[in-house]
Amino acid sequence: MRANPDPLRVGMVGCGRVSSKYIEGIHASDRLSLVTCTDLNPANARVVANAHGFEVADSLDALLQNDSVDIVLNLTPPHAHEAITISALEAGRHVYSEKPLATTREAARRVVRTAASSARLLACAPDQILTGTMRAAREMIDAGHIGNPVAATAFMMNHGHEQWHPDPGGYYASPGGGPFYNRAGYYVGALINLFGPVVEVSAMGRTTWPHREIKTGPRIGELIPVEVPTHISANLAFENGAIATVVTSFDVWNTSLPRIEIYGSDATAVLPDPVTNNGSVLILPRDGGEAQNFPMRPSQYPVAGTGIRDLASAVDNNGQPILDAGLAYHIVDIMESVHDSMTQGRTQQIESSCRRPELGRLAS
Ligand SMILES: NC(=O)c1ccc[n+]([C@@H]2O[C@H](COP(=O)([O-])OP(=O)(O)OC[C@H]3O[C@@H](n4cnc5c(N)ncnc54)[C@H](O)[C@@H]3O)[C@@H](O)[C@H]2O)c1
Repeated sequence: MRANPDPLRVGMVGCGRVSSKYIEGIHASDRLSLVTCTDLNPANARVVANAHGFEVADSLDALLQNDSVDIVLNLTPPHAHEAITISALEAGRHVYSEKPLATTREAARRVVRTAASSARLLACAPDQILTGTMRAAREMIDAGHIGNPVAATAFMMNHGHEQWHPDPGGYYASPGGGPFYNRAGYYVGALINLFGPVVEVSAMGRTTWPHREIKTGPRIGELIPVEVPTHISANLAFENGAIATVVTSFDVWNTSLPRIEIYGSDATAVLPDPVTNNGSVLILPRDGGEAQNFPMRPSQYPVAGTGIRDLASAVDNNGQPILDAGLAYHIVDIMESVHDSMTQGRTQQIESSCRRPELGRLAS
């Protein structure tokens, strides 16, 4: 355990929508303290800082010159992740980044290399794969309640971010846009947590509309170009032999499909949406008998911030974060390989691998 009992000080870069969840998650920990924040739009930083009583730094450089900052929390849009994470690691800070680690395999490699040579720790969202529900699902599979995992389906389908986001261009831009880049971290991440790494993918996709109309905010009515497939049907083969069908879409107005189902040799498991974490793990027995709830341990902590609280624990104990750079890189590799498969019309082997997340030390 770290000799210094003072909390690790966090500097937050990017003060948009997701920042409030992190502020709640950090306040729930006595090992973390949010001390400063910055944003390209200074008004965003001021609103957040004034509401919570921490300092505003004028720029990323100014934030990195603050010697008291131990961890940089990167909550900027995906296209900015690489540069900010690398600058923070090079300035000697541990980093917790929002997903994805970067928008291309090459960029993610540069981030991983910088982390490896920096002697600092790097962890990456989404931490929803560490929720009590997802841990219960893993316990259920590992204990053999559904037999051997055979296959899985995961569905994330909606009609795109232009319905509610005032600046949705990034969700349709290449690289890094489209429903698979935006959401695979949650669903594929959850499946990696259950099954282990992915070895092969194939995918088909289509772009249904060449433009999207912004439906809210100051740019309402503006058309934005769509540069990526917006309905993607991907098949993933896992090292443990299971295969998954993952459908992600920004083209669907409504659906009644479940979020994740796992098909075992003895029974089926139905999992709630890892993004919202609402609901429980249900087992549907092989004989058509009544569905049973798999029991979950209650958690004293909010879901938000599980990943950065675990990073603090890794710093304290000279360990590695559970959501480590290897897992984050593997997910980016899968995302880009799915897009490669769509453009090249063939199956893609996944060169990278990762450790199955080691959940043992997570506090309940
Ligand atoms: N884990 C989750 O549940 C979850 C949910 C939503 C979003 N996200 C991720 O969180 C990140 C942020 O999403 P959001 O919805 O808060 O976005 P947002 O657009 O609401 O906020 C992003 C903020 O970053 C600022 N910014 C942009 N570039 C910057 C730069 N170079 N330096 C400093 N500030 C910069 C913007 O001005 C804005 O205030 C994204 O990576 C997204 O993928 C995660």
